Amino acid sequence: MNQPASPPNHSTYQPPHAWAEVGLAHPHESARLHVTGEATYTDDIPELQGTLHAALGLSQQAHARILAIDLSAVKAAPGVVAVFTAQDIPGANDCGPIIHDDPILADGLVQYVGQPIFIVVATGHDAARRAARLAQIDYAPLPAILSPQAARAAQSYVLPPMRLVRGDPARALLQAPHSVKGTLEVGGQEQFYLEGQISYAIPQEQDGMHVYCSTQHPSEMQQVIAHALGRSAHHVLVECRRMGGGFGGKESQSAIWACAAAVSAARLQRPVKLRPDRDDDMQVSGKRHGFYYEYEVGYDDSGRILAARVEMVADAGFSADLSGPVATRAVCHFDNAYFLSEVDILALCGKTNLQSNTAFRGFGGPQGAIAIEYAIDEIARNLGLDPLTVRRRNFYGKNGERNITPYGQKVTDNVIHALVDALEVSSDYQHRRQQIAAFNQASPILKKGLALTPVKFGISFNLPHLNQAGALVHVYLDGSVLVNHGGTEMGQGVNTKVAQVVAHTLGIPLQQVRCTAADTSKVANTSATAASTGSDLNGMAAQDAALHIRHKLTAVAAAEFGVDPAALLFADGRVCTDRHSISFTELVKKAYLQRAQLWSDGFYATPDLHWDTATLTGHPFYYFAYGAAVSEVVIDTLTGEWKLLRVDALYDTGESLNPAIDIGQVEGGFIQGVGWLTTEELWWNQDGKLMTHSPSTYKIPAICDCPSDFRVALFRNTNPAATIHRSKASGEPPLLLAFSAFFAIRDAIAAVAEQRINPPLKAPATSEAILNAVQAVQAAQILRAMSS
Ligand code: MTE
Ligand code: MOS
Repeated sequence: MNQPASPPNHSTYQPPHAWAEVGLAHPHESARLHVTGEATYTDDIPELQGTLHAALGLSQQAHARILAIDLSAVKAAPGVVAVFTAQDIPGANDCGPIIHDDPILADGLVQYVGQPIFIVVATGHDAARRAARLAQIDYAPLPAILSPQAARAAQSYVLPPMRLVRGDPARALLQAPHSVKGTLEVGGQEQFYLEGQISYAIPQEQDGMHVYCSTQHPSEMQQVIAHALGRSAHHVLVECRRMGGGFGGKESQSAIWACAAAVSAARLQRPVKLRPDRDDDMQVSGKRHGFYYEYEVGYDDSGRILAARVEMVADAGFSADLSGPVATRAVCHFDNAYFLSEVDILALCGKTNLQSNTAFRGFGGPQGAIAIEYAIDEIARNLGLDPLTVRRRNFYGKNGERNITPYGQKVTDNVIHALVDALEVSSDYQHRRQQIAAFNQASPILKKGLALTPVKFGISFNLPHLNQAGALVHVYLDGSVLVNHGGTEMGQGVNTKVAQVVAHTLGIPLQQVRCTAADTSKVANTSATAASTGSDLNGMAAQDAALHIRHKLTAVAAAEFGVDPAALLFADGRVCTDRHSISFTELVKKAYLQRAQLWSDGFYATPDLHWDTATLTGHPFYYFAYGAAVSEVVIDTLTGEWKLLRVDALYDTGESLNPAIDIGQVEGGFIQGVGWLTTEELWWNQDGKLMTHSPSTYKIPAICDCPSDFRVALFRNTNPAATIHRSKASGEPPLLLAFSAFFAIRDAIAAVAEQRINPPLKAPATSEAILNAVQAVQAAQILRAMSS
């Protein structure tokens, strides 16, 4: 250790390698506010005098021509100030993020139950909602497509098919000694952010529009609002201090609310707030894509996969929205942690007369990976092997062999072997496997199941140009620091991590740094806070800005002390050499008097990324994040009820920027994934109306659904990619760890027939689905007994 010769002249000096603001388990910057209820969400912003409230009038038909709209009763209702239809939109009636097939208000044609047709603006929130129900609309119904299977049968797609083929999978399938073939259905998922969608639009002078919006993508909201108003982007300012959760649901789909509020505010020249209640929010907005699969996988006696073919049909809903990128990520995650030499992946975006499905934590990755996990689970049962053995035999290689993904990217940072080995030991997997077998032998009604599943998840937006970020850092004369960056805070802790990075770079305590609301007037042309890249990108951009300022301060201090700039240390609120020391604040004052610039912008673009959308090949991900989890469940074979008994999760965050936040992300992602795969069932009736549109019928996990024994750990590891302080993202990948719960349930069901029959279990594995699978296994067992 390089201890200073003479101690510096202040008591708290420590060498910089011991001082750090990154890597520490600081609480979330808003933790106290979240707990006390003081955190300001968009609906908590004090309303300006004259604020009006809007509600949307929704389609009652899944697919129909609108013959006539009679809004006279709406207009006459108490408190109503104005009613707007498509014709009243001053600019374009379009809020589609990529393809322009998303009208803000339906114009002549409705394509799903819940599609907005008109806006009613009233003096109060309730008045607007009540009035919205009074519309008389005449429809001429058209045939409706209500499932991905039906879309496939009708060849109804929102986008052209995507196909990725490597090698000669058809021949390899024919030649493989064994194969499994089947179909699978995996349901969608409602984001169920606790704070619903909301926008509050306030007209400004000279055609300006200030919109407070709960959104993951302020820059896109700015664009679509400007487009709808027929104004330029510089007229529109979108601001978001925080969201009460986004989970992908406020990436593109905050647009309809933002546009409707802004159009109303522009027409009336009064502030307009639009906050749908939960039922309307769920009826209008898109969810995670449900998928239907047909798969065929060839394998050898050891369980090694020789060829895989899958056709996945996503339920895109009525418009494209983000279905293209979601399907791309599904294609790029079909391999999960496994080397697939001969592979044929076809992804179809089925056009249905349902909500337009969108981003949800994992963004198609979970839907891609679950298909191969399902097949591997069957291969193991067919060979009488533990699924963990078959998984290991198919992992990407450790030493540069078997390491090219189907889309051509080399896996150079593989830690799945070491991570799974560690988890196998720490979870006592082998011993518990035996205990569970013994339990099941002795227990005819209750059956236990266990599963260990891995995850490998690509980090970066698939489209290279989105991987950029900006930041703005101000150092004030009292030494306090204000940070603005292009990311949005949705509870995931990006502001805390970015503030830590800035504090660390300037060598000051975290309390001296404050992040402000995301604001399109401060950082321009930002990407969505999505694809788990929030702290990777914005952390780098903020570090860049802070480094610019540090260079200015370094020059001032070096001149002051008469030392080489390289000898200066920024740590613990001071700037020192082994013989000199000055407080950060004093140095800032000196720098100001010398007219040094004490604020700076910063920018970052992730290197080494390329992607060919035509061939679906390239190097789309800067690195991979890895993890694995073991779940143990018990099921009741008479009722289909089940319980998650114990979960052990190990997740690779590289050199974690904040282990407390990362553990929270793993826990939250895991439980949210369990909800998707078990209790959260979206159910539309035969008319295409979503019947599970509130928490009374749509079951997200509650605290009682969490395992009483929940052991989450971070895998110690350094990211070989030069990310911010060698950390890794933690936002989305942990959701896929919930596969372990689903396959533990399948394992428990298979115990009904001593693991000899593959249970036909679909997701979500509701109690009803579990019971159906149990009965199918029992029936198959009887058939087998009769035929042998
Ligand atoms: N965590 C909380 N608490 N709330 C959220 O809405 N969204 C998830 C994840 N974790 C979310 C969350 C999703 S979908 C993404 S893409 C990432 O956070 C985005 O943030 P990051 O890129 O900063 O990790
Ligand atoms: Mo997350 S689904 O990428 O917003």
